[in-house]
Amino acid sequence: MCDSAKSVAVLASGTGTLLKAIIDNQESRYRVDLVVADQICPAVQRAKNAGIRTAVVPMEENRNAWNEKMVAAVASVDPDLVVSAGFMCLLGPAFVKEFAGRTINTHPSLLPAFPGAHAVRDALDHGVKVTGCTVHYVDAGLDSGEIIAQRAVEVEAGDTEFELHERIKKAEREQIVHLLHHAELVNGKVVFNV
Ligand code: GAR
Repeated sequence: MCDSAKSVAVLASGTGTLLKAIIDNQESRYRVDLVVADQICPAVQRAKNAGIRTAVVPMEENRNAWNEKMVAAVASVDPDLVVSAGFMCLLGPAFVKEFAGRTINTHPSLLPAFPGAHAVRDALDHGVKVTGCTVHYVDAGLDSGEIIAQRAVEVEAGDTEFELHERIKKAEREQIVHLLHHAELVNGKVVFNV
């Protein structure tokens, strides 16, 4: 890996298959320096297995205090880019401001349709025939930041939430890795030459 590799911090909450794809596809363009989770979860173990530094910052009743701890944890590696990949907590204004233009999120729907924690279930309940995934900049809203890239995934007859989500996650893994391989910093903002 050359010195110009972008330093990436990844936020995750669960299984961590997106994190694994990000880690497995590190090359000269980026390297994962930190994984932050809000709970002990398989994603943390995946990071440890890869020799990557981890931090667990459990959610607190005092959201401002939690956000400050999240800022401190991520700032400890001074990353070029923060990737929320299966992180199920809403980042607050302190975090968004600190890493503005450098924090992106991958979400399992074609935003602005179906924001929130149950995007795949909501899409199925709505009866859509096509859904997909979105990578967007993180702002202080719920999955409302500027859209960077999207991929469509067809809903198949009889799809369960699990089956559809697995196909969406395959698209998410390909999309986020592709974007990270094309990330550039311009005036403190990360942009993607795709
Ligand atoms: C992904 O589908 C990601 O978009 C979603 O959680 C999954 C994580 O999968 N995130 C959200 O829904 C955030 N609103 P993984 O744990 O296998 O990487």
